[in-house]
Amino acid sequence: MTLSQPTSNKTILQESNEGRLEIQHLQEANLIVSPHAGVDVIKGLNKTPKSLPARYFYDDRGSELFEQICELQEYYPTRTEMSILQQYAGEIAQTTSACELVELGSGSSTKTRTLLNAYHQLNYPLRYLPIDVSAGILESSARQLLVDYPGLQVHALAGTYELALEHLLPSQLPNRMICFIGSSLGNLNSQEFDVFFSHITSALQSGEYFLLGIDLQKPKHLLEAAYNDRLGVTAAFNLNMLEHLNWRFDGNFDIPQFEHWAFYNETEQRIEMHLRSLRSQTVELRALNLTVDFDENETILTEISRKFNLDTLQQELKAKGLVTQKVWTDVNQWVGLLLCQFQG
Ligand code: AVJ
Repeated sequence: MTLSQPTSNKTILQESNEGRLEIQHLQEANLIVSPHAGVDVIKGLNKTPKSLPARYFYDDRGSELFEQICELQEYYPTRTEMSILQQYAGEIAQTTSACELVELGSGSSTKTRTLLNAYHQLNYPLRYLPIDVSAGILESSARQLLVDYPGLQVHALAGTYELALEHLLPSQLPNRMICFIGSSLGNLNSQEFDVFFSHITSALQSGEYFLLGIDLQKPKHLLEAAYNDRLGVTAAFNLNMLEHLNWRFDGNFDIPQFEHWAFYNETEQRIEMHLRSLRSQTVELRALNLTVDFDENETILTEISRKFNLDTLQQELKAKGLVTQKVWTDVNQWVGLLLCQFQG
């Protein structure tokens, strides 16, 4: 198999925005369509117990369903984190002073606007480096930001976190803050967690900031409700992964023969989302030359979502050189926002 070489094609768009937008493509637009696409699917489905990478949730339909999840009454993380940001963005900006904002998994950049507003109010220059694997959403949200923020410079990086962090040039402003909000840290197992932070700390200079949003431990019934909503949107989101695999890899998953299963694993302190096979069956993914047998009730782990303890996490971060400067939370202490400074 041949590996595709990462390309670095810079697109500098200068029309009406006076060169305020630069988009750098670090690899083929979408990792999923790379020549070794599907290798991780084969690996995951051949393992016992079976698992699939969570990024296969996010085809167009999956991204749409995720947006709907964020609006659900039971799904507290999005609106809770947004309220913390709204309340403390001014304090964040005051603490860091003028700095470049780098955002991992920027998506639609909705929450980031709260930060941009705060820096703008303090008359700080605005420079934003959104990073996302989805080049389409990156470009459209960057263009909208340029319209809404006349002084803003955007340098968008389309690619994985790892690749983008390796390509960061020194900050053009007095400081820099890497933002990782939205609780996505919880998707990483402990090994992936360490690898992730080694990339972060290699990218940061001493004195630079890291802003982290995390979901906190809370009573089991609240957590389980958030991943088992009454409207069934989370179930549809989970099952959509099989539709996505059918479409992408010419598969024949019979969706009604699987069901959504999510629970809080108290020992591991994480939500686990699985898809359970309702009968013994055989599935083929023809484009991957893969045949998979399922026993009745056998499950595929599609996502973990870890729930953190603030003190433990701060100690772990400190051991990596990331020293907490400020911690904010909501009245219920459901979500945490940490501002760390790298002391490398
Ligand atoms: C986007 C990873 C933060 O773990 O809560 C929502 C994804 N999965 N409902 C989360 C998700 C099911 C979400 N993150």
